[in-house]
Amino acid sequence: MESEQSNSSNETLVFRLFDEKPSSGLGFLDSPQLPLHPPPPCLEVLPSEVSAGVKYIAEPVNVGGVTLLKGRVSTQDVFALANSDLVPGKYEGGLKLWEGSLDLITALSSDIKEGKLSFAGKRVLELGCGHGLPGIFACQKGAASVHFQDFNAEVLRCLTIPNVNANVQKKSEHLAIDMNESNNWDTRFFAGDWVELHCVLPYACKDENEASYLAQLDRASSYDIVLMAETVYSISALPNLYRLIKKCLCNPRGVVYMAAKKYYFGVGGGSRRFLSVVENDGTFAASLVSEVADGSSNVREVWKLLPK
Ligand SMILES: C[S@@+](CC[C@H](N)C(=O)[O-])C[C@H]1O[C@@H](n2cnc3c(N)ncnc32)[C@H](O)[C@@H]1O
Repeated sequence: MESEQSNSSNETLVFRLFDEKPSSGLGFLDSPQLPLHPPPPCLEVLPSEVSAGVKYIAEPVNVGGVTLLKGRVSTQDVFALANSDLVPGKYEGGLKLWEGSLDLITALSSDIKEGKLSFAGKRVLELGCGHGLPGIFACQKGAASVHFQDFNAEVLRCLTIPNVNANVQKKSEHLAIDMNESNNWDTRFFAGDWVELHCVLPYACKDENEASYLAQLDRASSYDIVLMAETVYSISALPNLYRLIKKCLCNPRGVVYMAAKKYYFGVGGGSRRFLSVVENDGTFAASLVSEVADGSSNVREVWKLLPK
């Protein structure tokens, strides 16, 4: 499957969906220089900014021993893009539910069962959330607060916030109690590129000096848990993503859970490429939580990063 993208001069660039093996050797990185879009501004999106104009249909998904509701919205309606998984720098794939999100929830669920993880009272950040199902799972498991981030504000307005609302509503119906009383989830939503995101996140060091931000990240000013699924496909974005994590994760008691494909055909990133950035820096120790090789795509993994 291929996706098409037009630049301002109407020249059409073709790139491949990164799940697939390149058939001709003409992968993403071999394409002509992709047009660079200016990154969208970093901002907080309020729950009241939820989109009313885009059709949203909720459906159940069973994962990690729980049933979550996930929405379906059309990429055409939101971005006027047909059949596109991703347009680099413009739309980063947040409207689709990627397998890694479900792998991540399954891994979180088994770590909870084995007593290796607890969300109770924790401050959680889901990076590159799209549907936000891992963050919603963290809410259900007692997180004190969950902050969701996506590149595109439209994804938050049309999909993430409706998904959070649908799951809150499901909980209140199930418990037969008043919606307002049951909605004690503390959720906030942030849009923008990882380069500048620390400027809008409530718990992130604004100081660019690495020595000072590592020293400042105590529990009061940082996140306990960072979750992310399918965020490490673009090689050029990896250093920015890693720097952001270092600016907002509690030191030394924070933890990162990352789900990703081992390698993304056509774009060159992947879990192993990200781990080489982590290893070169030396701040975190990485351990493999689970591996999924079900033949539906290339091998997928979930990794845990802990400050050394
Ligand atoms: C392939 S989607 C994965 C969505 C979701 N986590 C899932 O697994 O279904 C990648 C996500 O990473 C985020 N992302 C990618 N590049 C980014 C960048 N440079 N800055 C901020 N977010 C980015 C986008 O928010 C996008 O939704």
